[in-house]
Amino acid sequence: MKNKQPLIILGIETSCDETAAAVLEYKNNYFRIISNVVSSQIKIHRRYGGIVPEVAARAHIENILPVIKKALKTLENKKNRPPTYPPMRRIDLIAVTYGPGLVTSLLVGLETAKTISYLWQKPLIDINHLEAHLAANWLLSIGENPKSQIPNPKSFPAVSLIVSGGHTELGLIKKMGRYKKIGQTRDDAAGECFDKIAKLLSLGYPGGPEISRYAEKFHSKPKTINFKLPRPMINSDDFDFSFSGLKTAVLYLVKKNKNKIKNENFIKKVCAETQQAIIDVLIYKTVKAAKKYRAKTVFLSGGVAANQELRNQFNLNLKSKFSNLNFLVPPKNLCTDNAAMVAAAGILKYNSLTPRQKIKLKNNWQRIKANPNLNL
Ligand code: KG4
Ligand code: ZN
Repeated sequence: MKNKQPLIILGIETSCDETAAAVLEYKNNYFRIISNVVSSQIKIHRRYGGIVPEVAARAHIENILPVIKKALKTLENKKNRPPTYPPMRRIDLIAVTYGPGLVTSLLVGLETAKTISYLWQKPLIDINHLEAHLAANWLLSIGENPKSQIPNPKSFPAVSLIVSGGHTELGLIKKMGRYKKIGQTRDDAAGECFDKIAKLLSLGYPGGPEISRYAEKFHSKPKTINFKLPRPMINSDDFDFSFSGLKTAVLYLVKKNKNKIKNENFIKKVCAETQQAIIDVLIYKTVKAAKKYRAKTVFLSGGVAANQELRNQFNLNLKSKFSNLNFLVPPKNLCTDNAAMVAAAGILKYNSLTPRQKIKLKNNWQRIKANPNLNL
């Protein structure tokens, strides 16, 4: 689809503990991130060792308008516009996450988006948070490359792995917009497993980056791991995952080695082995799916995809096992929750609508409801 005028989209995301707003420009199949503002609540939740929903909602309420204002500021600075030109005038579409996530958090972003859609008379599009993580694969960071192109039909069939704090999901995408779930976690998500094991080891929150930091230090020393953690469900006949057993195995290991819990080398070993166990299962199942469905592309996304070791090993494995497969993973800052991915998913969804459906988006503020248990 060729647009003469660029489409300007405002994305809003508050499904968990990041208050985020972004502005994206779309023209002739290309995206450009104009602004990407994320206000993280990590410092607040660190005190509790995890997210407290009510505390998260209160912080979203305080942050949402300043974050949106900051994201729009870049539009104000455009040289070709008079300084008084209100930035909201340039917005063509608002995209907002309506699920899955914490309902009290979702409501803040959603109700704000509905209000500004009504006041500014702008179309509003509802976005699934998982769809947004997947759409991050079409984006490049600000500064990295000014433009990123939406995928062409040659990218499909594709296999997508979304790994976040709430989800671990393998999907088959036969063509653009046709997503079919083929596997998921039966208990904890991969990110949740990182977070719970980090808590068990009294490391900080969120657990993924902490475990990876300790694991990295271990790798730089001679490898002397003398215990092995399980790789749950690695040999199961399906594409499902399970991570709660891994957490239990670490719990028993820690109980058995109470005297070593203050020993930094022991902690580093546990972290390296935890990280590797998670990586092994994720890569094994994704490779199996890519082979079965003759995938031309593998998409990796979600907060856990920010893990450097996972990115490296995915790349090496896919290169060694497939001769002609494209591996896409978003820049690290677009793997964890952000609103640029919501805006990107908004554009993709908007492009798939008929002109009649597009007109109806102006009344969406009356219709959209938060859905904390939404599926992809
Ligand atoms: O996608 P995300 O920001 O929020 C959800 O949608 O859940 O993912 C957050 C999860 C957390 O569990 C966090 O520990 C994990 O992503 N994570 C990581 C890393 N950075 C964030 N896990 C492993 N390694 C990382 N570097
Ligand atoms: Zn997320």
